[in-house]
Amino acid sequence: MVHRPYIIIVSEVSIDGKLTLYRGASSKELMSLMDEEAYRYLHEIRAKVDGIMVGCETVRTDNPSLTVRYVRGKNPTRIIPCSTANVPLDANVLNTSEAPTIIATTERAPRERVEKIKERGAEVIVAGDELVDFDLLLPKLYDMGIKTLMVEGGASINWELIKRRVVDEIRLIHLPVIVGGENVPTLVGGEGFKKLRNLLHLRLRSHFKRGNHLITEWEVVK
Ligand SMILES: NC(=O)c1ccc[n+]([C@@H]2O[C@H](COP(=O)([O-])OP(=O)(O)OC[C@H]3O[C@@H](n4cnc5c(N)ncnc54)[C@H](OP(=O)(O)O)[C@@H]3O)[C@@H](O)[C@H]2O)c1
Repeated sequence: MVHRPYIIIVSEVSIDGKLTLYRGASSKELMSLMDEEAYRYLHEIRAKVDGIMVGCETVRTDNPSLTVRYVRGKNPTRIIPCSTANVPLDANVLNTSEAPTIIATTERAPRERVEKIKERGAEVIVAGDELVDFDLLLPKLYDMGIKTLMVEGGASINWELIKRRVVDEIRLIHLPVIVGGENVPTLVGGEGFKKLRNLLHLRLRSHFKRGNHLITEWEVVK
């Protein structure tokens, strides 16, 4: 797919690749281990991209604002794939006085809920019947001016994009801790590639420290 934004997954991960402390836990607790320099790194990227995406489950568990705070810069447009538009109406991403928001949903979304979201000032895009269809959504976002898109998880959304091979870069802030646990979400969820020949290959472009954190930046080998 050429007609789509340039996509960068950016994530904080423990040494064992976990995104949070246990399934269903807000990642904000784990992220409290990050120092200010690491936050600045994250927010520098937010300030450079046109759009920022997180899955609906991340909105429900973490209630992020997805705005630029640690550096000066413009807030990117927030894009939330949410198949039944089940976003809490008091979610921070629906505070549209801070930044524009697009809720990407499907034909399954109840009309009343869509209307309430629109009343909060967000735009609603219908893309798909069951789950949000990224093959439809990404070209629409591109046409709306989202040429660069940062994706901040969670595991399911990361997988949806990775399996379509539409991710261009992955940037990781490594937290020097082990979380453990079989069912704790890792960087990429979903069913997995399973076969060696199907794996997504990456090339390490750079690695450096910001504050006390190792940062690694990876390019997807096309
Ligand atoms: N460390 C980090 O950097 C970081 C970042 C983000 C999140 N997290 C953590 O990750 C966890 C959430 O991850 P998650 O994997 O459960 O959820 P997620 O990826 O944030 O969101 C998945 C949800 O998106 C919606 N969706 C719409 N279209 C979809 C599609 N085509 N494919 C898949 N999902 C689609 C579905 O909700 P509907 O059924 O409502 O449509 C689905 O449940 C939380 O614990 C959060 O704290 C960590």
